[in-house]
Amino acid sequence: MTNWERQINIKNAAEIKLMREAGRINAEALAAVKEAIAPGVTTAELNEVAEAVHRGYGVYSPFKNYPGPYPYPGSICTSVNEELVHGIPGKRKLCSGDIISVDCGTVYEGFVGDSAFTVGVGEISAKARKLIEIVMKALDIATSLMVAGNHSGDIGAAVQRYVESNGIYITRTYTGHGVGRAMHEGPQVPNYGKPGQGVLLREGMTIALEPMVLMGTGFTRVRSDEWTVVSKDGSLTAHYENTVAITADGPLILTAI
Ligand code: MF3
Ligand code: CO
Repeated sequence: MTNWERQINIKNAAEIKLMREAGRINAEALAAVKEAIAPGVTTAELNEVAEAVHRGYGVYSPFKNYPGPYPYPGSICTSVNEELVHGIPGKRKLCSGDIISVDCGTVYEGFVGDSAFTVGVGEISAKARKLIEIVMKALDIATSLMVAGNHSGDIGAAVQRYVESNGIYITRTYTGHGVGRAMHEGPQVPNYGKPGQGVLLREGMTIALEPMVLMGTGFTRVRSDEWTVVSKDGSLTAHYENTVAITADGPLILTAI
């Protein structure tokens, strides 16, 4: 979500078709990971599940070796409880009551699909269920506004209004982003803002919409592993993401199965 290749690249129909396939494979990888989530499973094992799906298609994740403080070591991000995004897969075993966000990317024929979900492990609290419901609905709202003529600020404002009216917080530090040949293209699409402000949305734009919500405050910090973003107050967090194209027929979710 932070990045520097900030060009907005409009895609033609053929490119959107390739992105749809990248997105479909990404959805398959995430579905396999979701299936594998259970108490006792490690986040490294989830990473292997995604990589096995990628290997089957001869594709790879753009997350692997992504430049940062040091090259990102995983093919997916596994962010548990207070971890908002960019959690690194490892030895951690999931416990009943945890919530986990899994973010995955796929490069197919040079184009990127990027999506994420949050799900409970075993039995989770009512509070955690509500948080996940809210972030899912926030993504639905964002998606419905992916219409030519709207502005990126319309998306941000609608997401912010919905999330904050439910007593939940949105990060200001991390945003949605254009996606295409690069995982991070323009425009930046914050989950907060003002209607009518930001970038004018046009047909052929492909954007990774990714509401990231926190229970306690909107503030985050990065752990000493230099990747994992956590809520500053340790409160629960959740994240959903889809890559969505703006088409003449309205929003097209590219990362659907
Ligand atoms: N979906 C995330 C994003 O949009 C994934 C990036 S993780 C990284 O930024 F390791 F690749 F940076
Ligand atoms: Co993303």
